[in-house]
Order: sequence, then structure tokens, then C-alpha cells
Amino acid sequence: MSMNLIKKSVAHYAASLVQDQQIIGLGSGTTATLFIHELGKRCQQGLRIKGVASSIAIEKEACQARIPLINLDDVDYIDATYDGVDAINPQKEMIKGRGGALLREKILAYASREYIIMIEEYKKVLQFDQICLPVEIVPFGKEHTLKRIEKLGYRSSWRVTGSQELFLTDNNNYMLDLVIDAVFSEQKNQELLAVPGVVDTGFFSILPHKVIVGTRKGKIEVQ
Ligand code: A5P
Repeated sequence: MSMNLIKKSVAHYAASLVQDQQIIGLGSGTTATLFIHELGKRCQQGLRIKGVASSIAIEKEACQARIPLINLDDVDYIDATYDGVDAINPQKEMIKGRGGALLREKILAYASREYIIMIEEYKKVLQFDQICLPVEIVPFGKEHTLKRIEKLGYRSSWRVTGSQELFLTDNNNYMLDLVIDAVFSEQKNQELLAVPGVVDTGFFSILPHKVIVGTRKGKIEVQ
């Protein structure tokens, strides 16, 4: 089964779990976009929900799918957030942020009663070895922040756009892509977060309530 078909079937299954009147957190990325398409179809059939978007791109997708949106601060909590990840280990720690939306995605995850992850099975890894960890950095003094991070022993590069300009997040920050290895842990993440200028990282230690896995053979497994 092609990657896109796997993502589609995961998104279709995830959208079938959404219940009437729920406030739904909308993650970012290709899987989250397919989820929005599926959810939009259900809304056209009468499902009444409100979405909270994790990025400007996803806000646009939700509007096109005619999913009513609401601001996070207008609700006390989100019933369930559905999001994709870049990699997940057996402890269910996750790496996110390839699309640049890690900060808002993390805020939604922590505001949610249920946090549901949608993946293709190849995203399950034993450890985060030689994986890219996105780190959001404020523009002020960014080269000093970079030096402090490199002193912690990481190789890194600023994320750039197709036209070689520095990638800007929705929060007008830059994104530094670090290479992490098998010894990366919550403690190492805390060291990064302690560097002034670091806004957040794509390391998610919040435990998902459900991981919906699409297998190569087209099966859906829920873990
Ligand atoms: C967005 O910044 C990311 O955290 C995505 O959620 C993550 O990269 C998964 O994306 P795909 O669903 O496109 O693989």
C-alpha cells in the first residue's frame, strides 16, 4: 500500500472516532490535513464540532473543509486532539515539528483531555538515533543561542525555505534542526529548554491516549 493510502486510511479511521459536539484539536502536517478532509466530510453530513487549529496552514485547510473554528482561549479544554508525528519510540515519546508547528501542537496536546496520534508503521522506531529534532528559536541573538546549543554537543542547521531564506514559524521564530542520537532523553531535552532563546523543542513526552497505526498491508492497529 502506498504511503499516501496508508495515511488516508489512518485519517479516515481517526475521523470516525470524533463525536458530536466535541471540541477537536487539529494538528499539522500531511496526516492531519487528510484527517481534516475526512472530518470535513462528516461535518457536511451533520456532525457538529468545533476545531482548534495548530497552524495557519491548518486553519486554512479547516476553513476549506468547512469545519467551524474556535480560539483555544475561548474554551476551557479540548476534548481530543488528533495529530501526526515524525517518530515515536516504545515509551511513546515522540519527535514532531518537521512542518514547523511544534509549539502550537504542544500547546494543544497539553490542553486536551485526549491526545490521539496517527502514524504509518515506519514511524515507530526503537530509539531516536540520528534523527532530526526541530528546535524553535527566537530571532534575537540567534547565533549566540546556536553556539550554546552546539556546546552541548549537537550538530545543527537553520531550517531554510525553498528560496534559501530562513524558515519562519507561525510565531515568527526560526527553526534549528539538530541531529540527536540514541542517548537523547527527557533530561537532554531539559538542557536544551534551559538555553535562553530556545522557545521549545519537537520532543514530546506527553503520553498519547491512543496511537492509530496504519500498517504497510493496509491494516489499522490501535495501541
Ligand atoms: C508539524 O510541525 C509536524 O509536527 C507534523 O505533525 C509531523 O511532522 C507529522 O507530519 P506528517 O503527518 O506530514 O508526516
